[in-house]
Amino acid sequence: MPFSLPDLPFDTSNLMPFCSAETFQYHHGKHHAAYVTKLNDAINGTPLAELSLEEVILRSHAEGNKAVFNNAAQHFNHSFFWNCLAAAKEKQTNAADAPTTGPGPQISTLLDRDFGGLDQFKAAFNQAATTLFGSGWAWLAQNGSGKLEILQLKDADTPLIQGKKPLLTLDVWEHAYYIDFRNRRPDYINTFWDFINWDFVEKQLS
Ligand SMILES: [Fe+2]
Repeated sequence: MPFSLPDLPFDTSNLMPFCSAETFQYHHGKHHAAYVTKLNDAINGTPLAELSLEEVILRSHAEGNKAVFNNAAQHFNHSFFWNCLAAAKEKQTNAADAPTTGPGPQISTLLDRDFGGLDQFKAAFNQAATTLFGSGWAWLAQNGSGKLEILQLKDADTPLIQGKKPLLTLDVWEHAYYIDFRNRRPDYINTFWDFINWDFVEKQLS
C-alpha cells in the first residue's frame, strides 16, 4: 500500500499571520506531496514497501539509504508538523476545532520540571529554531528516561532515529516561511506560539 499525502487538519485560511493559504498550497500541496511521491517511487517493488513509515525511516537510516530516508523522514516530519498546528483562536467556530489555549496539564508539568516553565522553554526552543544553520527542524521530544529535550535537527533528521518520542515541531526550512516572511525567520518563529495544537502535544505523552 503506497504512502499518501494526508489532508491538512484545519482550514488553511485560518492560520494567518503564521502561514497563508498560499504557503500551504506550496508547502503541503507541492513540497510534502513531492516527498510522498519520491518515497513511493523509491520503495516500489522493494521489501521496504511492506513496512510502516516508522520502519522505513529506521531501516533506510540504518542502511545508509539516503534517497529513501530523506523522503520518508520528510513525509513523517511534515505530517507531524501539520498536526501540531491549529487555527487562530478567533477563527475557531465549532467544537471540532483544536484548542490553542495553552499547554495541557501533563506537558505543563514536564515543561516546568525540565525547563523551569513555559517561558523558559519557549526561549530555548526559539533559540534552537533561530540558530539552526540552513534547513531543518526544531523539536520538543521526550528521551527514553522521560526527560524533555529540545532538538535542533538538520535537513530531514527526525527524533525517531534517536529513539526519542516527538512531541512538537517547527519546520524552519525556507520553504515554510519565505512567501509570508521572506528572510525573517525569527518573526515566523515568534508567530508559531499562537497556532499550536496543544491538545495534540498532550496526546503524544499518553
Ligand atoms: Fe517543509
